[in-house]
Amino acid sequence: MSTVRRAVCPGSFDPVTHGHLDIIGRASRLYDEVIVAVLINKTKSSLFTVEERMEMLTAVTADYGNVRVDAFEGLLVDYCRAHNVPAVVKGLRAVSDFDYELQMAQMNHDLAGVETLFMATNPQYSFLSSSLVKEVATYGGDVSGLIPPIVLERLQQRLAERR
Ligand code: PNS
Repeated sequence: MSTVRRAVCPGSFDPVTHGHLDIIGRASRLYDEVIVAVLINKTKSSLFTVEERMEMLTAVTADYGNVRVDAFEGLLVDYCRAHNVPAVVKGLRAVSDFDYELQMAQMNHDLAGVETLFMATNPQYSFLSSSLVKEVATYGGDVSGLIPPIVLERLQQRLAERR
């Protein structure tokens, strides 16, 4: 049996925000190893490719030391089983997140006994989502306080390419 306490932080991360980093950083202080797992979702259109999202995540989590970035396709519980990960860490921003997150947590537990730990998001980021960052940035709003500088640069580049 593995004695490494391992958890996964799954998501789309299109792109990673300070809200995600807050949760990943706090999870990294609770677990020996944290895997940030990017969902490969072929049915959902995204601004960044999975590889680009992973690149940005790798850069912005480099200082944590015990965080690595991976991608997965299919069920999260299958990824957890294959990589010997007993726990999922999710951030909860507001009550509105709770219903769906609870359903997923219960389903994942039922399917494979995978536990979900909910972490209360830093209130500074409770309004923050990747979708809103993209929307605000698309219309010229200032998102520099919401995403790391390298992500801001990539976002501005990508939006300029699409204009
Ligand atoms: O950042 P997101 O898009 O809110 O993340 C959602 C994610 C990736 C955590 C969730 O959609 C997921 O776990 N997808 C993998 C497919 C799966 O396991 N579905 C059943 C959930 S009970």
